[in-house]
Amino acid sequence: MATEAPVLILGIETSCDETAASVVQDGWQVRSSIVASQHELHREYAGVVPEIASRAHLERILPVIRRAMTGAEVSWSDLDAIAVGHRPGLIGSLLVGVSAAKALAWSLGRPIIGVDHVLAHLWAARLDAEPLRFPALGLVVSGGHTALMRLESPLMATIIGRTIDDAVGEAYDKAATILGLPYPGGPKVDQLAASGDESAHDLPVSRLDRESLDFSFSGLKTALLYAVRGQPTRRTDGTLVYERDERDLTDEARADFCASFQRAAARAVLIKVERALDGQPDVESIIVGGGVSANSRLRHELTQLASSRGLAVRLPELRYCVDNAAMIAGLAAERLREGLTDDWRLAAQPASALI
Ligand code: KG4
Ligand code: ZN
Repeated sequence: MATEAPVLILGIETSCDETAASVVQDGWQVRSSIVASQHELHREYAGVVPEIASRAHLERILPVIRRAMTGAEVSWSDLDAIAVGHRPGLIGSLLVGVSAAKALAWSLGRPIIGVDHVLAHLWAARLDAEPLRFPALGLVVSGGHTALMRLESPLMATIIGRTIDDAVGEAYDKAATILGLPYPGGPKVDQLAASGDESAHDLPVSRLDRESLDFSFSGLKTALLYAVRGQPTRRTDGTLVYERDERDLTDEARADFCASFQRAAARAVLIKVERALDGQPDVESIIVGGGVSANSRLRHELTQLASSRGLAVRLPELRYCVDNAAMIAGLAAERLREGLTDDWRLAAQPASALI
């Protein structure tokens, strides 16, 4: 009996500060996944500087693609399509990936497939793992996005809730800065929270109004700032002066702040997931993605919630939580199967079409 030839897609991801390329077979078997992070370039600014990011993508994109091809042990002619995360993201960064993908697709005579980065985060849970079950509730928690969506299939999503201010990962990174921890501080806050007392500080859990599925994290961040540094007063020259400095924190006090922040942040997410599930009784699973899906507390609480409701929860392997190109190549296979390929008009777009 003839077996179907495997579908091999090269994916490229440059939407923010990770330059990534990956070869994925049949949408889920990761043959290679290379991620070159730029964290060290942005650390002194405590956030991503768009101009620095796009220049670094330019320098790194070709070596990263070469390493992905070598690691996958495939040749250019084996590829069925070239995929690229073309939205949302920093426009200068996206342009590097989109241009590289177009050049490769054109020179190889293969289709180009544009993939939505936010939707691709949810496909990460399928990489090197079992098929996903639909309809599903999708939860994207990353540095740039916090959204709840109803998914009929991997490609059919409707946003039902989103952040009205900071993304949860952004709140984690700002919390880390407030506590004197290096950017991006999400993983460090998570790690220190393990040895802290979560009831040390009563930080606010935002709910918004009773029906809302939207999120808000800016109040939590400000409450943490005041708890750490005291009330600010304004000098005559307009600058703010605080009562205390974060450098005076003991290791124990810092861990207590991390644990209290983590409790409030996870609670705020969980409340909205529960509310969304109440309104979507037919969903079969909760699919989670984005950098903050690596968070130990969120993983634990979502697993407990799903099991209390008899649902499956799908969390990506840790290496596929943060930005990567395997999720782009993987979701592109679904598009290819449906005949949803693009042409040379494919454009880099700062905003997602979902929102
Ligand atoms: O998905 P991602 O790589 O980038 C965006 O698409 O935005 O997410 C990066 C974010 C950063 O804010 C980082 O601090 C956060 O994910 N993050 C975490 C953890 N690991 C990464 N936040 C909390 N706990 C973690 N373990
Ligand atoms: Zn992302």
